[in-house]
Amino acid sequence: MEEKKAAVIGYPIKHSLSPIIHNYWLKENKIAGEYSKIEVKPQELEKFILTLPQKKLTGINITIPHKEEAYKILQEQAEISELATTLEAINTIYVKNNKIYADNTDYYGFKKGLIENLPNLNLATKEVLVIGAGGAAKAIIFGLIKDNVKKITIINRTKKKAEILAKKSKKTLIIDNLDNIEHKITHADIVINTTSCGLNNQNQLKIEHSKIKGKKIFYDIVYKPLNTKFLVDAKNNGHQIIAGINMLIYQAQPAFKYFFGQTPKITEKQIKFFEEQAEKY
Ligand code: ATR
Repeated sequence: MEEKKAAVIGYPIKHSLSPIIHNYWLKENKIAGEYSKIEVKPQELEKFILTLPQKKLTGINITIPHKEEAYKILQEQAEISELATTLEAINTIYVKNNKIYADNTDYYGFKKGLIENLPNLNLATKEVLVIGAGGAAKAIIFGLIKDNVKKITIINRTKKKAEILAKKSKKTLIIDNLDNIEHKITHADIVINTTSCGLNNQNQLKIEHSKIKGKKIFYDIVYKPLNTKFLVDAKNNGHQIIAGINMLIYQAQPAFKYFFGQTPKITEKQIKFFEEQAEKY
């Protein structure tokens, strides 16, 4: 059988962990295939995507900064999943019988990371505080709404952006800025950092843990470093934490199925291996 090829595209793309994850699963599942990373500049994106059926690629993952643009390009040209349409952002494209299909598996990855760590979690009883109002926040907020979460509060450096996002969600959400963040955390069960704060140990969110009442779940979507200050501080103060690498690994699972036809099993041992690899980056 012909070897199947897939890739992740982005700009920059050098530090993507996706090839490590997909190539591990290819080997483990004895599938003849290859997953690489390709740097695609914004001005090259349209041509790259629209010529996918001619390329010898069964599919691609799309990462920063191309997710929204890919949606615009494919709007009239592909079969786009309901979720990706709602989010107006695509992270997975695959080709079947010369036709392009597109999906967004980010929320799947986020949610799987949550329930694998908290199997008994009932979102209907949980109040969630989302920090940030960018593309990642949008995927998580829209997903949580669909999953009937009890309440969402969005706080963002630029309050206006949170307001725009909340309007799009068509649900009454509480909006605020980052001031007195500890008070807002106190009123939440789950606190999610969707901003780039803490990435490469820069631009840390300022949270004074002594002012927070009660024990929470802290989930960071940043995975560089593996244990961000946001998570380390939370853990040291007795809160439960979920690291961003969970979301990264689980969002790759349905993409792998689209590209290579099988859903890979994810074990704790495997997650440890990916964490070790991530630390080397
Ligand atoms: P993504 O699509 O990955 O979510 P994005 O759309 O650029 O990225 O959104 C980045 C988020 O991180 C925004 O909520 C941004 O806040 P603003 O809306 O005020 O720009 C937030 N962010 C980035 N740097 C930040 C910082 N230093 N302090 C606080 N928030 C920050």
